[in-house]
Formats: sequence, C-alpha cells, structure tokens
Amino acid sequence: MSSKKEKLSVEPYKGVRDFYPEDQAFYNYLLSTYRQVAERFGYVEYHASVLEPAELYKSKNAENEELVNEQTYTFVDRGGREVTLRPEMTPTVARMVAARRRELGFPLRFFSIPNVFRYERPQRGRLREHWQLNVDLFGSKSLTADTEIIAVAAEIMRAFGATPNDFEIRIGSRIFLDSLITQLSLSDDATKEFVALLDRRRKIPAAEFDATLAELGVPLALLSTSDTPDEVRVVLKTLAELGINNAVYDPSIVRGFAYYTGVVFEVFDTHPDNNRALFGGGRYDNLTTLFDDEPIVGVGFGMGDVSMRNFLEVRGLLPVYVPPTKLYIAVAAPEDVSHALMLAQELRAQNVAIAVDFGDKKLADQIKAATKHHIPYLLVVGENEITSGTFAVRDLATGKETPLSRTELASFFLALA
Ligand code: HAM
Repeated sequence: MSSKKEKLSVEPYKGVRDFYPEDQAFYNYLLSTYRQVAERFGYVEYHASVLEPAELYKSKNAENEELVNEQTYTFVDRGGREVTLRPEMTPTVARMVAARRRELGFPLRFFSIPNVFRYERPQRGRLREHWQLNVDLFGSKSLTADTEIIAVAAEIMRAFGATPNDFEIRIGSRIFLDSLITQLSLSDDATKEFVALLDRRRKIPAAEFDATLAELGVPLALLSTSDTPDEVRVVLKTLAELGINNAVYDPSIVRGFAYYTGVVFEVFDTHPDNNRALFGGGRYDNLTTLFDDEPIVGVGFGMGDVSMRNFLEVRGLLPVYVPPTKLYIAVAAPEDVSHALMLAQELRAQNVAIAVDFGDKKLADQIKAATKHHIPYLLVVGENEITSGTFAVRDLATGKETPLSRTELASFFLALA
C-alpha cells in the first residue's frame, strides 16, 4: 500500500540550499576568513535570533519598499503577533545597540554572519536564504569611520586571494543625492523614479537611461563623475593613503534602503563573466531613532556568501575540499575489526582524525568508500599487519604505500597537518 503513495521530493525548499560536507567546508572557510579580518580591525562578533517583530521593517525610516512589501517572510504566530524572518541584519543590530547604549563603548565595532531570508526569484547570485557578513561601526560621525569600513571590505577581498584588479569599489553619496533632489525640486514620485533609475543605471542601455533622466527633468551633466562631492573626496583620499586605489566616485550608487544618509558604496566584480555588484553598504545616521530620540550614528556593509562564492569560482580561487578525516582504516576480515578499533583509539588519543570500516563489505568496496569521502590515506588491518606490527599507509591519490610501525603512525599523520 505505502509503496503506491507519492514520495516526498528530496529537493530543498525553493531558493534555499542544503550544505553537504563540501559546501559546509567552504562555508567554514568563509566564516573563518571573515572572522580573522574583522577581528584584526578590532570588530567583535554578536548574534541574534532570526525572528523579529514585523514592525521593525515597516517604519518609514528603515524602509526598503520592495523588501518589505514583496520579499519578507512574515507570519502570525500562535499568540497573534506578526513575525518576520529577518531579511537583513541592520535593523536588528541598531536595536541591540540602542538597547545597551549606556553600557556599550563607542566607537563600537560589531560584526556578525547571520542567515537572512528574502522572497526573491532565485537566480544567479540571489537566493531566498543567504548568509551575510555584517560589519558595522557605531558612534562616530568621522569620515574616517566610513573609510575604515571600506578598508575592511577591501581587506576581506584580499584575504580571499583577490587582487585590486579583480574588483572595483564604487562610492556614491546620499548627501549629494538629497541636495540634487532639493535643488531640482523633484516631487516625491519623481524622486522615487529618479533613485530607482540611478539604481538601474548599469542594467539598462545608456540611451534609455539618458531619455528617462531627461523626462524627469534632471540634466545629465549634474551626474558628472568629475564633480566629486566633498565627503567622497575625503574618503577616496584616505583610502589612497592606505594603499587602496581601486575605488572611484560613481554618482549612480544610491543603494535601495531609505536609512542611508551619507557615503554609500558597492563593490563590483570586474570579471567579464560575473560583472555585477558583490556587496555594499553605507552610512546610516538615524536608524536607531526607531527606538530612541537621540540617534546613534552608524556605518557598515553587508556581504553575501552566494556572490562571494561566484566571485571566487570564476577566478579559480575556491579552496580544494579536504575532509577533516586523515585516515581510513579498512579491515581484511570481520574478525580484525576489534583490532582496528583499538589502533584507531591509540591514534585518536594523539589527535589523528580516523574513520574505521566495520568490515561488512569487501575490501575493494571499503577502499571505494574512503575515496568517495575524499579521505587521503588508508591502511588495512589484517592478520599480517597484526603479527608484524607494520602497516602500509596508502596515499589514495597516488597509490604510493609507506610501511610504518605502530609508533611511527601518529607522527606521520601529525606531520601532515
Ligand atoms: P543589501 O545590498 O540588501 O544590503 O545586501 C547586502 C548584500 O547581501 C548584497 O550585496 C549581496 O551580496 C547579498 N544579498 C542580498 N540579497 C541577497 C539574496 N537574495 N541572495 C544572495 N545574496 C544576497 C543590506 O542588506 C544592508 N543591510 C547592508 C548593510 C549593513 N548596510 C549597513 N550595514
């Protein structure tokens, strides 16, 4: 009867990923690289729940209309509260900082690597769940803070093996944008259209951009890259002093969130096969006024794991998967298992990571399993090995065998690490 029932799909929910060990190993590599760089700059790690009250994303100040209206995962809990799976971390960290404003020391340097959820159409670089490094600095109005945040971003790229030619940091300014809007007396609707148009600039033909701009009554000359706003000029100068020269002013960088108030930036991949924004951020000086009258100023960025992986992939910078297990112990016959287990215990006591086969398959199949697990070395425990006390350690990639005594085994594997 049950065999006639339709079986469940083995696919994960649309737009989210399963992490098999090789994916998890890459994720761990991302995490450790993010952590090392952030901590080197004096940032400390925080974390929070994925659940937030829906209202956190609805205020005018925090709003990104598309995100709130079309992309949040929101539900009503059993107590009637409206709950959202966080689509980004910035409102959460602003809440946490506002909650402890008296205890925390400023400038405050915080980082986190949360998973965030957005109901987007899954496509290259975009999924419904991704992990996002958030690096944020609170309590400083200095443009040096904006510069530091961008320097952290550039250093992360370097730590992954990217060269300055591999990416470009494009910096814009909300201050400049707001003054332009005032100067042109754009209506609310025209402002929205103008900002959306700037955001789309690189995705549409230049002629279409120019025509729409003209319809809105914005002279193209006002968007000239030669008139760099002061705040961007200062940031570019300090970055250059730090040896970061792949940054440029780009007046079309505006970013989608209403909370940005100053310098905004996006990092672009320069590879022809992956020419897109990798990540971005900016200054947001009023977000904590959602919770309190007195604002705590902030600046930071969010960097997604999906776009980072694509970036590393097109350049051959993905690390090769190496499992933590260094040795597979196979057995010649089922009666040798207990000896294999004892040998494994001896070596584990010396910190060697070992998996043991239980001998319920042929030796050839045991070796096949070790290969599928990408375990680099294998030895067989059988009558001969037990009597002689010598084990042939086979390198599964080359087939080369090294005969080692029991006492030599541990040092052989520890020397590999
Ligand atoms: P965001 O531009 O919406 O900014 O997202 C930051 C980065 O997260 C994107 O550039 C991209 O790398 C990644 N990302 C966003 N959505 C997706 C998706 N659907 N799939 C995969 N990756 C995605 C923010 O979220 C701001 N809260 C960042 C920030 C922090 N600003 C200041 N501090």
